[in-house]
Amino acid sequence: MEIRKVGVVGLGTMGAGIAQISVQSGFETVGREVSAELGERGRATVDRYLTRGVEKGRLTQDERDAALARLTLTTELSDLADCDLVIEAALEELELKREIFTELDRVTRPDAVLATNTSALSVSEIAEATKRPERVVGMHFFNPAPVLPLVEIVRAPESSDEAVDSAYAWAEAAGKQPVRCNDTPGFIVNRILIPLLNDCVRVLDEAGVQPEDMDKAMTSGAGWPLGPCALIDLIGVDVHVHASNALHGKLGEARMAPPERLVQMQEAGKLGRKSGEGFYKY
Ligand SMILES: NC(=O)c1ccc[n+]([C@@H]2O[C@H](COP(=O)([O-])OP(=O)(O)OC[C@H]3O[C@@H](n4cnc5c(N)ncnc54)[C@H](O)[C@@H]3O)[C@@H](O)[C@H]2O)c1
Repeated sequence: MEIRKVGVVGLGTMGAGIAQISVQSGFETVGREVSAELGERGRATVDRYLTRGVEKGRLTQDERDAALARLTLTTELSDLADCDLVIEAALEELELKREIFTELDRVTRPDAVLATNTSALSVSEIAEATKRPERVVGMHFFNPAPVLPLVEIVRAPESSDEAVDSAYAWAEAAGKQPVRCNDTPGFIVNRILIPLLNDCVRVLDEAGVQPEDMDKAMTSGAGWPLGPCALIDLIGVDVHVHASNALHGKLGEARMAPPERLVQMQEAGKLGRKSGEGFYKY
């Protein structure tokens, strides 16, 4: 199915980025927020990054104006009725997402593709809240969505080939690098990266390594573009601990549980770049 109009549910960190990708790639986009004020905040985020793109010469002022004009705001899910693809980026809570999908199922066209940007929930359990689980897929973007090219296109057992292919084709048309995978905990990147980063943090204490030396070891010895401690500071210690707990809860491997050092950092408010201090000071 050709996707012409896109709905984005939630214009927070991820939703605003996804809406920006969509309007910048030429798609009419409806952003739904819980209040008009939050909607305007989402639009301001999109505006700020598009304007920065003009300053850096990545797009022209006319392109920025046209992109922003493609974004309309609403507080009603029913205004997503004529969207071909809806990407949900609301809080990571299963019951909330299920409520949103039940309503999307009621208000959107039967052939619309309904996608969730969940990081750790089961796409299948979200799809079960609809009467058309074959039209539901995962589209897992990475933060910051306009910058990181990867989108994991997640196939739940019930997802149809056509829905998966439509989501994949849209992600490509929007300039992203989609990959396909099944609906398993952590999908691809988080399944691998979360226990690996936790190993790195445990090695700090086991081998008496300073964060600077750990990052030097992994950048100059393993060719990582960014060291693990710098990466956790960028992701946010709280986000990483939450994701570790979610993965550990589903798969039960000891390496997946958050290391004590990270739990203590979270309790002390040392969350990384966003709080001004994590493994490093900012
Ligand atoms: N932040 C990341 O690094 C990242 C990366 C990939 C995927 N995700 C996933 O994206 C989704 C959104 O995460 P985020 O980081 O953008 O969160 P956020 O807190 O920045 O945004 C959450 C959004 O949910 C909306 N919301 C809150 N209560 C709601 C309600 N009752 N009904 C409908 N909407 C409501 C908020 O208004 C906001 O738009 C989550 O599923 C998360 O797991 C996050």
